[in-house]
Amino acid sequence: MALASLQELEREAVMGTYARNPVEFVRGEGTRLWDDEGNEYLDFLCGISVSLLGHCHPAVVEAVREQVGRLIHVGNLFYTEPPMLLAARLSELSLGGGVFFTNSGAEAIECALKLARKRRAGGEFVVLERGFHGRTYGALSATPQEAKQAPFAPLVPGFRAVPAAPEALVRAVDGRTAAVIVEAVQGEGGIHPLESGLLEAARAACDEHGALLICDEIQCGLGRTGALWGFDHAGVRPDVMTLAKGLGGGLPIGACVASPDVSDVLAPGDHGSTFAGGPVVAAAANAVLDVVEDAGFSAGVRAKGKRLRLGLEQIGLDVRGIGLMLAFHAADGPGLVARALAEQRLVLNATGPDTVRLLPPLNVSEADIDEAVGRIGALPAA
Ligand SMILES: Cc1ncc(COP(=O)(O)O)c(C=O)c1O
Repeated sequence: MALASLQELEREAVMGTYARNPVEFVRGEGTRLWDDEGNEYLDFLCGISVSLLGHCHPAVVEAVREQVGRLIHVGNLFYTEPPMLLAARLSELSLGGGVFFTNSGAEAIECALKLARKRRAGGEFVVLERGFHGRTYGALSATPQEAKQAPFAPLVPGFRAVPAAPEALVRAVDGRTAAVIVEAVQGEGGIHPLESGLLEAARAACDEHGALLICDEIQCGLGRTGALWGFDHAGVRPDVMTLAKGLGGGLPIGACVASPDVSDVLAPGDHGSTFAGGPVVAAAANAVLDVVEDAGFSAGVRAKGKRLRLGLEQIGLDVRGIGLMLAFHAADGPGLVARALAEQRLVLNATGPDTVRLLPPLNVSEADIDEAVGRIGALPAA
């Protein structure tokens, strides 16, 4: 069906929550996408870090194909192998405790919030300004952005937002705090790595007051920053972490992972999800982990991130971020992104009026990095 027909259907039958770009994609492979007219695009956004290993990575496709032809769903009243193996692997690679699977990032946050509130009844949450944790009511309440929150008030009570600075955060934590929630690199907020010392200060304040430290690794985890987890850069271990986006290599799966101390807080009946942790999405996630858990993989991300950053700096851009989670300043971010798509067939994203974000697949080649830099450099206002 042609793009114009899809737009007509959208106008008739789809809630207007998304400002879509006027392109219809029909196929993807690696860093490349093709539209309905056969034009090839270079994708440096990968579904906002979802297609972590590029489009249709052969190992993900094969794992899904094998599982989907054998058993698609039985629900969480029974056992299947892929999610149990995945939980064991995720636990071993991170906090060492239990895993709760979800279908999305916001749901992983909901699980973390419920766990923390159950552990400290009536407890409060300390969150950072510019943070983003999702659109469901709990996750939205943890996302202190006026435009996103205001139309939906009243929100869940008990959230307190503080500036992303160690002193402000430490002052806000006390014996009533259930948890502090942070992203090691604030993604939707515009690719801002946390100030040095902030995670360490948050860890110390949580320890002092018996609160939990929750790291939201939904965007910055799974190797994106050149370390397996964003918190690895600070040498800090949270009590709980949340994952989603790239975990399924394009399929919808999230996870809330706990440390052993708090793995038993949620008991039978406390939480659940019909679809979550099904064998197909878990098989995809196992295939993703096969690739990213290799120590050499993170080193590769660091090297490629450096190349991309240097390339962008060499064409005069003001770059921030870490690993392959980068952004640059642009006077008109959305305008530049639209021109990159239309004129250079390069997929980027603006996280605000003056920020252009790049989240290429982690297995992007050096040649593709150089090509993306060349395409950005060819845009007049870049
Ligand atoms: C750090 C972070 N947390 C949570 C979410 C919400 O994830 P989802 O859109 O899958 O609900 C996002 C999505 O952008 C995110 O970047």
